[in-house]
Amino acid sequence: MKLLEPGRIGKMALKNRVFMAPMGTTTEEDGSFHDRSIRYLEERAIGGFGLIITGANQVSTDYEQKACNILGSVRSVQQLNWLARRIHANDAKLCVQLTVGLGRMQLPFAAEVAPLAASEVESYWFPGLMCKPLSVEQIQDLVVKMGAGAAAAKAAGADAVEVHGYGGYLLDQFCSTLWNTRTDEYGGDLRARMKFGLDCVTAMREAVGPDFPILYKFTPYHGVPGGRELEEGLEMARILEEAGVDALHVDMGCYEAWYKAIPTVYQHAPSQAWLAAEVRKVVSIPVLAVGKLNDPNIAERVLQEGKADFIGLAHGALTEPHWVNKVQRGEAYDIVPCIGCNECLFAGFKGGHYQCAVNPQCYAEDFFPVTPATAPKRALVLGGGPGGMEFAITAAERGVEVELWEKGARLGGTLWAAGGPSFKSDVADYATYLTNKTFRSHVTVRTMKDGTAEEILAGGWDKVVLATGAHHAMPPIPGIDGPKVVTAGDLLTGRAEHGARVVIIGAGLVGCETAAMCAQRADSVTVIETLPKILMSVEHCRNNELALAQLLEDSQIAFITDARVTDLGEEAVTYLKDGQTTSIEADTYVIAAGYTPNDGLYEQLAGRVDVSVIGDAVKPDSILKAVHQGFHLARSL
Ligand SMILES: Cc1cc2nc3c(=O)[nH]c(=O)nc-3n(C[C@H](O)[C@H](O)[C@H](O)COP(=O)(O)OP(=O)(O)OC[C@H]3O[C@@H](n4cnc5c(N)ncnc54)[C@H](O)[C@@H]3O)c2cc1C
Ligand SMILES: Cc1cc2nc3c(=O)[nH]c(=O)nc-3n(C[C@H](O)[C@H](O)[C@H](O)COP(=O)(O)O)c2cc1C
Ligand code: SF4
Repeated sequence: MKLLEPGRIGKMALKNRVFMAPMGTTTEEDGSFHDRSIRYLEERAIGGFGLIITGANQVSTDYEQKACNILGSVRSVQQLNWLARRIHANDAKLCVQLTVGLGRMQLPFAAEVAPLAASEVESYWFPGLMCKPLSVEQIQDLVVKMGAGAAAAKAAGADAVEVHGYGGYLLDQFCSTLWNTRTDEYGGDLRARMKFGLDCVTAMREAVGPDFPILYKFTPYHGVPGGRELEEGLEMARILEEAGVDALHVDMGCYEAWYKAIPTVYQHAPSQAWLAAEVRKVVSIPVLAVGKLNDPNIAERVLQEGKADFIGLAHGALTEPHWVNKVQRGEAYDIVPCIGCNECLFAGFKGGHYQCAVNPQCYAEDFFPVTPATAPKRALVLGGGPGGMEFAITAAERGVEVELWEKGARLGGTLWAAGGPSFKSDVADYATYLTNKTFRSHVTVRTMKDGTAEEILAGGWDKVVLATGAHHAMPPIPGIDGPKVVTAGDLLTGRAEHGARVVIIGAGLVGCETAAMCAQRADSVTVIETLPKILMSVEHCRNNELALAQLLEDSQIAFITDARVTDLGEEAVTYLKDGQTTSIEADTYVIAAGYTPNDGLYEQLAGRVDVSVIGDAVKPDSILKAVHQGFHLARSL
């Protein structure tokens, strides 16, 4: 496999073609790498990644506040050295990403403080707040500090450094006419706009010498109106090669279309390889590609087809730290897939530590060990959704004798509805993965098995877990039992069909995704919502929000908000809005009006057996909640 072949970036020899893509983590207070972060990166080196690229390290906080790691203090170099040693001990290489900052992407704590950027452009997070241009002296100071940062990284034991020059962050802001209107030597034609970045490369080269690899992560195509078009991006690639950069790490997008840079469940895999391929045609240095390459077959194809020299995983390294080893051992079937929810990124943006919906040990490698059970135990879990399966797999791993009863014909629970639309196949893949893992895990599975309280109590279980999910809420609207009425769940799982004209009641996540799915085939889709806006109940990371908004915009759906459905008649759906009654004729009426916990058995069992409830049966929520609750409950047995 090409994935496992050795490679080379400049003078740096790499044992395979797979790198862990940069992802910033929480840090020590002074910006040094936290021990927890070091341990998390080490686990990916143990898992076989040939090259680990750290998240961005700021080389200065003189012009903007701390946003990620900071490289500069004695402590930061010591911690970096500790990281380098632990990466090297696992036969991997370490590349440290360096940044001059975020510019207009900063999240200033005081919203009225204007961020420093390339030019007087709007702050991204605070529209209306205009940035101030960095002075020439400030730019030159940052250039010197990039050199110092590179020297510090090399001294700490890193094998390479990477310029954080992509994605609409400060260096990229200078490079793009969208954000750079300067008239001095840092503005104007492309070479002038690139001067800041090129000066950084020169300073870094002087600091590290000719043999130390310098990678450059850049964005040859923004994919937003007024942003960089490919032609300019390819010219940038040529200029960067000419400047002595050893490899180009290709990225796409910027925050205005953030899902293009950090993909979500709604993007197709691979999402950016085409762009790396375009760059590779015009340079002779190695090209690194990222973007939904988590499936080894897809990643291998990208290399085989010559689209890139190395492939990188960001999300995929969070869900499956041992990705490379599993590929090497022929165990790709056991790679934990990513569901594209971006709870990882969202946690960081909310000021918390990383977490991963499908890997509860992510960024908690030493905190949540799965140890052998201290005494023989028998556990029964009801419900084969993600919560029940995660519980069963983890408990079985501990040596607990586990039986799982699922009232349906197959495992997977609501994941099959969540992953029903073609644009959410990542979730369906996860359902398949968990199902297969459960069957490989010494769990006794009984499908079509809906236990009564008496039957459960008769089993003499040490532990009973109710992972029974939630019921569709059926609003008391006249006609709700009519023949045209179906639930979103039935439609999404193919248990029901829809006609040419569809009306959906409810514009939460389920209603909107169902609408987008129906719009693929229906003549008309209308969604009626009582709240003033659609998706008001959804708390998503920004990139998922933008991706879903784009999907809905492309799907030609009519939304009627602030409206209450009053009748589901034989011919039409009637609703009340602004005191006026209107009817829409339709063939299918879809109910997507929320969920209520399916926890009826709890009262019958509580006090008579050791029973716990997890997942949607507690409160309809998310895959993350169900999986994490299942995992932790199994660990605590
Ligand atoms: C359309 C849709 C889209 C969604 N999209 C997302 C998303 O993108 N990201 C996200 O994080 N979350 C999403 N969710 C929510 C997510 O699917 C749920 O939070 C998650 O599946 C809950 O897992 P669970 O194991 O608690 O329950 P479920 O997945 O609902 O599984 C419960 C299982 O219990 C079985 N069962 C019920 N009663 C019994 C009984 N008495 N005996 C035996 N078995 C029983 C059921 O048949 C079912 O298989 C979505 C939900 C829907 C409906
Ligand atoms: C949580 C998170 C943090 C990230 N932080 C950085 C970063 O510090 N520097 C960087 O260059 N890219 C960062 N990225 C982008 C990734 O390196 C990568 O380009 C992107 O996620 C696409 O790869 P993937 O599809 O394998 O996730 C981050 C991505 C995620 C999900
Ligand atoms: S939190 Fe979600 S998006 Fe992030 S790595 Fe885990 S599964 Fe993928």
